[in-house]
Amino acid sequence: MDGFPNTKYRTIETRRIAGSLGAVVSGVNLAEPLTDDVLAEIRLALLENLVIFFRNQDMTPERLLRFARHWGDIHLHPYMAGMPDHPEVLELAKKAGDKRNFGGDWHTDQMFAPRPAMGTMLWAKQVPDAGGDTLFSNQYLAYEALSDGMKRLISGIRGMCVGDRKKGGATRAAVNAATISMKTIEPPPDMPKVSPHPLVRTHPETGRKSLYIGGHVHYLEAMTEEESAPLIQYLYQHSQRPEFTCRFRWEPGSLAFWDNRCTMHFAINDYPPDTRVMHRVTIRGDEPF
Ligand SMILES: [Fe+2]
Repeated sequence: MDGFPNTKYRTIETRRIAGSLGAVVSGVNLAEPLTDDVLAEIRLALLENLVIFFRNQDMTPERLLRFARHWGDIHLHPYMAGMPDHPEVLELAKKAGDKRNFGGDWHTDQMFAPRPAMGTMLWAKQVPDAGGDTLFSNQYLAYEALSDGMKRLISGIRGMCVGDRKKGGATRAAVNAATISMKTIEPPPDMPKVSPHPLVRTHPETGRKSLYIGGHVHYLEAMTEEESAPLIQYLYQHSQRPEFTCRFRWEPGSLAFWDNRCTMHFAINDYPPDTRVMHRVTIRGDEPF
């Protein structure tokens, strides 16, 4: 049982799965076209809960894309190849021999891009019997829990974001190619190596401020890596505190939809040598401010 139902919705039902964020939405069949009333309530549920989950959804790439397009244009991944017939859909497949998984650190999607993804939809095609859960963290709460002094200190500072922080700006593709059985592609020529984003961003729909410190932040603008490291490390650790998080247990047919503008997530790699296959769509976002 996933918490208590929220009775203010008329067409859907939501049950929170943790104190800080996350709710399971029921009463919706995403395989069918949705009415404007239902879509409006799903939009509200996402803004209220930051990440929403749907169980037992019979999705295909076409159905996933139809649902995603209600939120905007699809954001193509610059480094990873989409499915052959559906380039907008990324199949995240972790197989028996793969040592590393995709998304196995705290991050928010495509923060290395000038316009990071607004939201991500992930649908579970095949999951291990146990393991492979995803953690999410509420970055409104992470920001609000900082002292006034720290809030003042970091306001106006921009984090310089790269594809893979550990490789100092190398693309994820090169790293992934060796460790994950997924196809990579060359990024578009206009893809910058580094994208600056504010450490504190304002959500364009709710107006609330959140901490924006995913694993892609390599250093702080106008500072050296050495000068930046202690502050980045502090904020990064702070942003993952257990009281800001929830943990989702996948089943085949589960679909998660999260708001990258105010959350981080972490795909737990605790299921070797099992196979886990997910279909992912990301929705184009705005330039963070
Ligand atoms: Fe991710």
